[in-house]
Amino acid sequence: MIYDAGTVTPTDEATDKGSSTRMDSSADVIRSQNTWNRPVFLIGFMGSGKTTVGRTLARILDRTFLDTDEMIVQDQQMPITQIFEKYGEPYFRDLETGLLRKLEKDLQETGRQETTIRETGREETGRQEPDLQEAGRQETDPSGYVISVGGGLPLREENRVIMKRIGIVIYLKASPDTLVERLKGDTSRPLLQGGNMREKILSLMEKRDSFYTQAAQIQLFTDEMSVRETARCAARQIKITVEKIPQIR
Ligand code: S3P
Repeated sequence: MIYDAGTVTPTDEATDKGSSTRMDSSADVIRSQNTWNRPVFLIGFMGSGKTTVGRTLARILDRTFLDTDEMIVQDQQMPITQIFEKYGEPYFRDLETGLLRKLEKDLQETGRQETTIRETGREETGRQEPDLQEAGRQETDPSGYVISVGGGLPLREENRVIMKRIGIVIYLKASPDTLVERLKGDTSRPLLQGGNMREKILSLMEKRDSFYTQAAQIQLFTDEMSVRETARCAARQIKITVEKIPQIR
């Protein structure tokens, strides 16, 4: 059984359907209460909509969007297929873990810097520029990121632990049919090249679903929702979840 009972589905989010005024005002409320100091991570299988939903969610929350694949491609100056070919998958996985470690360090340093400045009574926030700036971002506070992570990143235990420790983790679920439809003809994902795409997806999903589930505090089943509906649903679920978890600073 791939989808568990804890997943939020469109039925749970019935108010989303046909009520854009209501949705817009709820998004405003969420934005105005967007004070939690944790990055939001979007995880899930390739093609589950992490990047598109992440961009929209970042807009709704007025936060900065990052994508680990894009950051790695930019850093390595080559596409993911080439990184896999030239250096192998373990090298790529180490780069993913490196990004998370860096993010956690930046968060800790930002927190320390803020505390020191508050103690000395100076007025300015004095937040440090995170090194994630190397990826060309303008955000000054890493706790304000919405981050879409590569589909294989949550498979490493260390990555799951870091994400949950520092952030709010949302698992975007989609059915195999939806994934096959979205991913057909894709040439950018090395793990799906050659052979039967559906079989590859089914076999990887089987191995990965429990890791995604372990990694996430929120699960959303996205098949029946538009990108916008999914993002709004995610924003509401974050608000509920954030009240239950301790702050990181
Ligand atoms: C991968 C997913 C890809 C990318 C790489 C490996 C995976 O990211 O990181 O091709 O192992 O599932 P998306 O999930 O954004 O497609």
